[in-house]
Amino acid sequence: QLVREMEEKNLPSQEKIERAAEILHQGGLVVFPTETVYGLGADCHNPAAVQRIFSTKGRPADHPLIIHLASAEQLHDYAVDIPAIAEQLAQDFWPGPLTLILKRHPQINPLVTGGQDTLAVRVPAHPVAQALLQSFGRGVAAPSANRFGRISPTTAQHARDELSGQINYLLDGGPCDLGIESTIINLTGPTPQVLRPGSITAAMLETITGPLAAHPSASSPRAPGNLDSHYAPRTATYLVTKQQLQQPDFINREPGSTGVLAINQPAQPFYRQWLSLPDDAAGYARNLYAALRTLDQAGLSCILIQQPPQQAEWLGVNDRLRRAARCL
Ligand code: TXA
Ligand code: MG
Repeated sequence: QLVREMEEKNLPSQEKIERAAEILHQGGLVVFPTETVYGLGADCHNPAAVQRIFSTKGRPADHPLIIHLASAEQLHDYAVDIPAIAEQLAQDFWPGPLTLILKRHPQINPLVTGGQDTLAVRVPAHPVAQALLQSFGRGVAAPSANRFGRISPTTAQHARDELSGQINYLLDGGPCDLGIESTIINLTGPTPQVLRPGSITAAMLETITGPLAAHPSASSPRAPGNLDSHYAPRTATYLVTKQQLQQPDFINREPGSTGVLAINQPAQPFYRQWLSLPDDAAGYARNLYAALRTLDQAGLSCILIQQPPQQAEWLGVNDRLRRAARCL
């Protein structure tokens, strides 16, 4: 059935999937699509391969990776003391954009977890990720396929732009559906807690977990997705209101070299570049990173991002924007 879906959607052939799995077995790095963003995968049981993820990304060794599995049935080989709530979350949200933090199985090399005794794990839904994981048969450690601190790739070309020449194989699955990274929930503390908001919202999780602990506002050095500057363009980037966008001189910069990321608004002529994203959170998230990349490559002196709404479904987007931009 998976093979048929892949053929219908013009996704990589089974031959390419098997080639990618073989490269993982040999300790190589494979870029592959997931429903959230593209991942940079390595065999999680091969320390040298995992080490290469860190050096390729320029990622500090104490920043833990997510292990990707084909199905929840494999969970017990990777985590121990798995609470009942984890099984329920897995049943309801896997395969899908939810990462669980559990207690690491002693057989999993702490290199993968940044030295911690907890471990991040998820079962992705993208048919190419599924096919790869099924063919490979065991866990694939994979961070987003970007240089450390930069914007996550949501197309194969973005991943090539980030890591060209440093990877052994790339599976092109087209643009990612969701566009922002998975929701991360920690199940190792006294109360379940969202560590990184995403498409699966706290309200959706709370139907199973009950009330969650408050989202951590302080950044933890152990969670790179939680660093204050992350997902960031190189160009100076600011969050502004819709009103501020109407007054291009309010920040005393040349609007002629300024780019704007607006929400559902026609272009204002005095800005050099104007991109407008949909006004629904899912559509916005799907296109956000590609838009940031386009603006970042346009040689602008600054990027202004219109502040999205504050409702719960925008939490994931607002979390990423807060790290990508400064406030004026
Ligand atoms: O959607 C996603 O999750 C994508 C795709 C490729 O699956 N992956 C991704 O990986 O975003 P990465 O490495 O860019 O982000 C992993 C996040 C980091 O913020 C990391 O700190 C957190 O997961 N994490 C991993 N292990 C953890 C642990 N044991 N405790 C707390 N946070 C952890
Ligand atoms: Mg990342």
